Amino acid sequence: MKLLVIGSGGREHALAWKLAQSPKVQSVFVAPGNGGTAVDPRLNNVPISDPRALADFVRKEKIVLTVVGPEAPLAGGVVDVFREQGLRIFGPTKAAAQLESSKAFAKAFMKRHKIPTADYETFTDAAKAHAYVDEHDAPIVIKADGLAAGKGVVVAMSLPQAHEAIDWMLTDNKLGVQHNEGGARVVIEQFLEGEEASFIVLCDGKHVVSLATSQDHKRLRDDDEGPNTGGMGAYSPAPVVTPNVHAKVMHEIIMPTIQGMAKDGAPFTGFLYAGLMIDSNGNPRTVEFNCRLGDPETQPIMMRLKSDLFDVLMHATDGTLDQVELKWDRRVALGVVMAAHGYPLDPRKGDVITGVPAEAADAVVFHAGTSLAGQDLVTAGGRVLCVTALGDSVRQAQQRAYEMLQGIRFDGAQYRRDIGHRAIKR
Ligand code: AMP
Ligand code: GLY
Repeated sequence: MKLLVIGSGGREHALAWKLAQSPKVQSVFVAPGNGGTAVDPRLNNVPISDPRALADFVRKEKIVLTVVGPEAPLAGGVVDVFREQGLRIFGPTKAAAQLESSKAFAKAFMKRHKIPTADYETFTDAAKAHAYVDEHDAPIVIKADGLAAGKGVVVAMSLPQAHEAIDWMLTDNKLGVQHNEGGARVVIEQFLEGEEASFIVLCDGKHVVSLATSQDHKRLRDDDEGPNTGGMGAYSPAPVVTPNVHAKVMHEIIMPTIQGMAKDGAPFTGFLYAGLMIDSNGNPRTVEFNCRLGDPETQPIMMRLKSDLFDVLMHATDGTLDQVELKWDRRVALGVVMAAHGYPLDPRKGDVITGVPAEAADAVVFHAGTSLAGQDLVTAGGRVLCVTALGDSVRQAQQRAYEMLQGIRFDGAQYRRDIGHRAIKR
């Protein structure tokens, strides 16, 4: 069988790597892919991004299943295009992807279906937004409506910061947000305290199977300092998600979401990612929904998945996820992201990367922003590599990942030295 993965990041490398391990899979195409998927003999890069051109390619190559990695093609309706043409694809429709592509849609949906989340208001008028913030005081959270590559959220610890964020989002569009219909809009919400976790499930529209839990490190520097990024490292499982918290999340957040989307006429198919804030009493609230797998959470999650992902996704696209039970490696997996000079604001491209070690049974370097320039592997994006390892404890997985990372070199490389610190302190 031939498969297609859409995307070019570390998440897509990990998905393609895992799918290629199925004995039923002959080859996996990755569109457009990266330097890592280019050199893996089981994977083939395809330089196509237009959804209709991708559908033509799938028909020509007789590809049986397509999996979508990032949010942009989902929000653009790639699943709708494939389905209209009778092609098998795993991901949400454009309507269902609004859970991620519009914060205002997601908040109104959660309110309507009584899904726990922070209190909020939506604004298009800057003067009203400023007045609301003055009334509620800091800390307070300002979120742009629309996709913003992870940059559309400001957690304002002071009032001036909150006012500045409103001006950025409603007046200047300094963050380059892709506005939804009706133009610039912000959601202003209550600041939540607690510990974050990533809770990702597979849905076929009706049935749900949860993946192993994980935790991401969003800030650039050690000790959770510096600007927010797409994620500087992740590990799985997340100890904060105890069996009790897990049950609450399924009962109070995931199932009401799946049932609510079906009731609202946009059944959710695909990976659903609930970003959680878990308070000190173990009560989870939804910080955000993503309509896809997390990056870099996927890299450690795929390292731990023992089941055949191809079989699982065939069930997911047949509507028979109720027949699936996932098997996991009991070990911890931990991934450390190496990012380019200048990330996240202005990542430099073209730095030569050396010393990437070969894959081992317990450690894999997944590529993200890399490409081939002649014989050289060079940086080509913000997050460059995710060095991922398995170990019997968080500490051991951490040691193994950093040991692998030591030999890898490129100018200006940035990485955190404390990935997994919350789980180690527990
Ligand atoms: P989002 O894109 O909505 O996930 O927001 C990015 C990050 O901002 C989250 O991972 C949290 O760390 C933080 N954040 C978002 N909303 C809140 C909130 N209501 N309270 C506290 N932190 C938040
Ligand atoms: N790592 C966070 C995300 O994928 O949204």
